[in-house]
Amino acid sequence: MRGALQCIALRPSGHTPSDSRPTSGEFIHRNAAVMSRVVCIDDLKQAALARLDKNALGYYNSGADGEQTLTDNNAAFQRYRLRPRCMVDISTIDLTQTVLGHEVSMPIGVAPTAMQAMAHPEGECATARAAEEMGAVFVLSSGSNKSIEEVADAAPRAIKWFQLYILKDRSTTVKMVQRAEQAGFSAIVLTVDAQVFGKRLADARNGFQRPSHLRLGNFASDVDKACHRGDNEYVEALFDLSVTWDDLSWLCSVTRLPVLVKGVMTPEDAVAAADRGASGVIVSNHGGRQLDGCIATVDALGPVVAAVGLRCPVFMDGGVRRGTDALKALALGACMVFVGRPLLWGLAHDGQRGARLALQLLQSELRLAMGLCGVTKVADVTEDVFEQSERSQL
Ligand SMILES: Cc1cc2nc3c(=O)[nH]c(=O)nc-3n(C[C@H](O)[C@H](O)[C@H](O)COP(=O)(O)O)c2cc1C
Repeated sequence: MRGALQCIALRPSGHTPSDSRPTSGEFIHRNAAVMSRVVCIDDLKQAALARLDKNALGYYNSGADGEQTLTDNNAAFQRYRLRPRCMVDISTIDLTQTVLGHEVSMPIGVAPTAMQAMAHPEGECATARAAEEMGAVFVLSSGSNKSIEEVADAAPRAIKWFQLYILKDRSTTVKMVQRAEQAGFSAIVLTVDAQVFGKRLADARNGFQRPSHLRLGNFASDVDKACHRGDNEYVEALFDLSVTWDDLSWLCSVTRLPVLVKGVMTPEDAVAAADRGASGVIVSNHGGRQLDGCIATVDALGPVVAAVGLRCPVFMDGGVRRGTDALKALALGACMVFVGRPLLWGLAHDGQRGARLALQLLQSELRLAMGLCGVTKVADVTEDVFEQSERSQL
């Protein structure tokens, strides 16, 4: 098995599992090997491709237009080169991080993605339980198939944040916020980059429709029925195109929860969000599903951190597929990264176990990457992990 071979390669000679504790990298690789032959996120994607129908596959995997930004989100990580550091005591590598007052087990969380029940019947409940098991942040999409309350019941101890769009009907918007508050969600994530949806060619070609047995769990049944066909119908019927930064101030005034702003790609917008009361910003281009041709999120991160990093935490998502990707984002100033599609692939592969495997793989790879860079704490991941030539361009 590939995983087992990797495990042997990682083990120093004369070192057996019985005579001393495995290193953290070794330990997780061995676990991954026992669980499955899936040993990295790319394997998980391949496993999911075999399980999803054309409709779901197009919906989950596609980006907007020519998918330039979708591709670049991932490729951009590969342009940053790392410096290995040796002879550092890496017997303990601590991935814990305090985020909005919560201790999280790792600086990798679950991004909000809509309609997870196309991947597995338990949908968002399974993903939230996987995040709960792993001690990672879970963000529930407002376009979920399972409702706020179902997810709260399924994963009562998970650190749960609720993703929101500002709707034309403000009373429905406020009711959703109140439901999230009552159900124990601890932050609101306001998505600001998708008042209209990008043109996703796969969905257009497939004539994407939500499967008739699935509902939009957070909406009343009349709204759910009215939006039964595709995403664009849901957006056109419900989303308010006229929102501005002043509406962020309004949202902050109607909730006691911290509000994070997701979809910021420029320092100007990050400053506007912080000025209107955001408790954090998430650098995101919606996984390349909105404005094709915009820059990769990892390239947008540094300038946003420079603009608001001293005022509020900066998060990022988009194209994180390896532990080294997460490490690079942390080094550029992100306090945590989120992953979207990898969790959908995990869910399609093996429900809750598959979603957990996605998080375990990334966690073990991040620990390994930190060890190889000679860094033992998340707070110590700085731009020093980059090659000198990279740093001069930051
Ligand atoms: C199928 C799919 C559905 C998504 N649905 C939402 C959503 O409902 N709300 C939201 O704010 N972002 C949504 N996103 C964007 C993700 O939150 C996240 O920004 C993106 O997936 C990160 O990129 P990655 O998939 O490369 O990790 C969605 C992304 C995908 C792929």
